[in-house]
Amino acid sequence: MNNADFTRQYYLDRRKGNSVKWQRGRKANCLPMWIADMDFKCDQRVIDDLSEFIARGDYGYTNLPEDYYKVLINWHRKRNDVEYKQEWIRPAKGAVDAMYQIIYSLTEKDDGIMICTPLYPPFKATIKECGRKVYESKMINNDGYFTFDYKDIERKLKTGKIRMFMLCSPHNPVGRVFKKGELEELFDLCKKYKVLICSDEVHSDIIMPDQKFIPSLALKKYQNIIISIVAASKTFSLAVYSNSHIIIPNAALRRKLITYQRKHHCGTFNAFNALSTYYNYMYGEEWLNTLNNVVYENYSYFREQLKDCYDMTVLEGSYLLFVNIGQYSTEQYAADTLEKKCGLLVNHGETFGKDYGSWVRINLATSLANVKKAVKALKKLTEK
Ligand SMILES: Cc1ncc(COP(=O)(O)O)c(C=O)c1O
Repeated sequence: MNNADFTRQYYLDRRKGNSVKWQRGRKANCLPMWIADMDFKCDQRVIDDLSEFIARGDYGYTNLPEDYYKVLINWHRKRNDVEYKQEWIRPAKGAVDAMYQIIYSLTEKDDGIMICTPLYPPFKATIKECGRKVYESKMINNDGYFTFDYKDIERKLKTGKIRMFMLCSPHNPVGRVFKKGELEELFDLCKKYKVLICSDEVHSDIIMPDQKFIPSLALKKYQNIIISIVAASKTFSLAVYSNSHIIIPNAALRRKLITYQRKHHCGTFNAFNALSTYYNYMYGEEWLNTLNNVVYENYSYFREQLKDCYDMTVLEGSYLLFVNIGQYSTEQYAADTLEKKCGLLVNHGETFGKDYGSWVRINLATSLANVKKAVKALKKLTEK
């Protein structure tokens, strides 16, 4: 299917209804390009099968489909060359819920946990909420291409106070799909200083052409210290279903997580929510391949039109672009300028890390027509 047909078939007019993204847009009288939520609906077969489940009216205690794990494991094997075992997989209600569970079960109060900023804000918030200490390492920005500052990371790991490194791969908001060498250098440091790695991979299916996503657990020599979080939620825009998976190969760590889950009564999947993952993994591959083309077309257009005006990240994965509005911002925070002057609602850069107030995060998982409106408004801003 080509991109225009995809948009015709799957673009959702979300202005009516309770979409968080569009309701806020409506209130602010802005085009909403904030929050990591797409404006496309799933493949029709998914909608049909979920509708059939609802129409049957059997809402009693329900098992997962018998081949749920097989379908999940096959998806990751086929798309990302990684082999997960069924017994490694534990349920969570979403990726942030998975973070809470991992932090609470595998670290102690006041343990240090490291993140690399700028970063999706709930990482830091969750660490703090759990009573752990945040250690931040600022990423190095080479012309919109962000990478780890290994020297800084090692300096902090050396203190012996850090128990876990929380990785976002692909990275939100800087759009990186990390190379094998980058991950290995990072994981070598974690291994050396006996630090666990929690790898949030919820953006791993949105990968731009010529990029290859490497799941952390595909690097087998580090398997014992890695816990990954995977989900279909970003891939197919399934936030309403709250379903994610914690992949934890190390048996001793897994036992700790299971003990935590039993104690807090959260060790089972919600079968209805899990169906949305299951049907999408069954039917959604072609849909996803075209979605990736749509995101890439939107990004290419955005970059081509605005690269001479604004610094922006190189988008390798996810549909989230980090853009520096700096020199054209009239407010303290660039996002406020875009809301007031351009009619665009975006995420504030400062929420991703200190000193990023001139940056904004723009969501490109929408129609090209919407991206063109945003580009027009951003160009106009440079002309004032
Ligand atoms: C990297 C990352 N992790 C987690 C989440 C949140 O996922 P969930 O809604 O499943 O908690 C997001 C949402 O944008 C995200 O970008």
